[in-house]
Amino acid sequence: MTERTLVLIKPDGVARGYVGEILSRIERKGLTIAAMEMRTAPNDVAATHYAEHEGKPFYPGLLEFITSGPLVAAVLEGPRAIAAFRQIAGGTDPVEKAVPGTIRADLALDGGQNLVHGSDSVESAEREIALWFPQLNRA
Ligand code: PPS
Repeated sequence: MTERTLVLIKPDGVARGYVGEILSRIERKGLTIAAMEMRTAPNDVAATHYAEHEGKPFYPGLLEFITSGPLVAAVLEGPRAIAAFRQIAGGTDPVEKAVPGTIRADLALDGGQNLVHGSDSVESAEREIALWFPQLNRA
């Protein structure tokens, strides 16, 4: 069954020149890029996107980081797209959780500046796609 997921190539990924590398890994996996845009996240979009983490110690730094420069937002499509992207992204902590061969393990060191975000459930994906790409019809 085709699924959609919202992916961000975070500002560190853009600044470090890994947009092409990350998109290449996405395409090699077989996922389709259904929509994509580079932009600097407005504060309100960033706060809504990460609302579930409000109150956690890392939240202020997370908002500061995610709005610090241009990022790439994309909608990916494919069978089990949510799990498939999270598989190639690797765990949140690039050293302790992500396994070699994943984007985070291969290219990142930090649990905050970890290059990519991917929706973690169908509900999150629907909410995040509507937030970042309100012009798209719902699946
Ligand atoms: S939690 O509390 O277990 O749900 O949090 P976690 O899944 O580890 O992380 C949620 C997102 O917050 C980001 N994060 C950080 N950003 C900046 N600085 C610090 N210290 C930090 N710690 C965690 C983490 O990368 C996750 O982002 P996304 O985009 O959802 O992967």
